[in-house]
Amino acid sequence: MELYLMTWPEVETYLKRTQKIIIPVGSTEQHGPTGLIGTDFLSAWDIAKDVGQLTKTVVASPICYGMAMHHLAFPGSASLKPSTFVLMIKEIIESYALHGFRQFYFINGHGGNIAPLTTAFSECLTDKQALEFNLVNWWLQPSVAEYEEAAFGDANGFHATCGEVSVTMACYPQAFAVPRALEYFPTTAQHPWPLSPAQFRATFPDGRMGSNPSLATAEHGRKIFALAVQEISTLLRV
Ligand code: NI
Repeated sequence: MELYLMTWPEVETYLKRTQKIIIPVGSTEQHGPTGLIGTDFLSAWDIAKDVGQLTKTVVASPICYGMAMHHLAFPGSASLKPSTFVLMIKEIIESYALHGFRQFYFINGHGGNIAPLTTAFSECLTDKQALEFNLVNWWLQPSVAEYEEAAFGDANGFHATCGEVSVTMACYPQAFAVPRALEYFPTTAQHPWPLSPAQFRATFPDGRMGSNPSLATAEHGRKIFALAVQEISTLLRV
């Protein structure tokens, strides 16, 4: 049930049945030498579409840009400033709330979005209208985290993870026509956070953070995807 493929009378009818809406949110940013620039919004969007279909919940247009300032030293990365991102999220929420949507499920694919999403939710929570916000970071769902830990251990890393690269391999095989092996560099460096774009690139020269995405496979991706869809669908059915 994709909102962007519906008409307004259909949305009006939907709102008489439920006030839930799923909003996929990600980022457009480098994912190391082998991961796709669109990894974060593609994974969130594809998972959201399946969850929407299973739970008969509308899925809004994906938010493809996020808070990725620290990736800006890598070509192809684009970012909104945190304050811009918060404003954008607030105005999207306010628009949907105007029509009667009350329960918001943000299916998120990017760690850098967590803080500004939470800020936007806090700013929208008033006593005038009973809105409910659910931040669903797909890779942190217990069944997903457990699977990734068993499959990849520490080599899953923190950015350009084996898990997220696997999901994109399952969904976009054509983008992975040439398999590439990578060396594994565990993240041991102590560094402050956040880092500026230049500091990030100096600390993580190829863009990965402690991951070995050459362990990623489409087969793992299909399993991770199915676990994420199943677990998030359960959340929505409550
Ligand atoms: Ni990512």
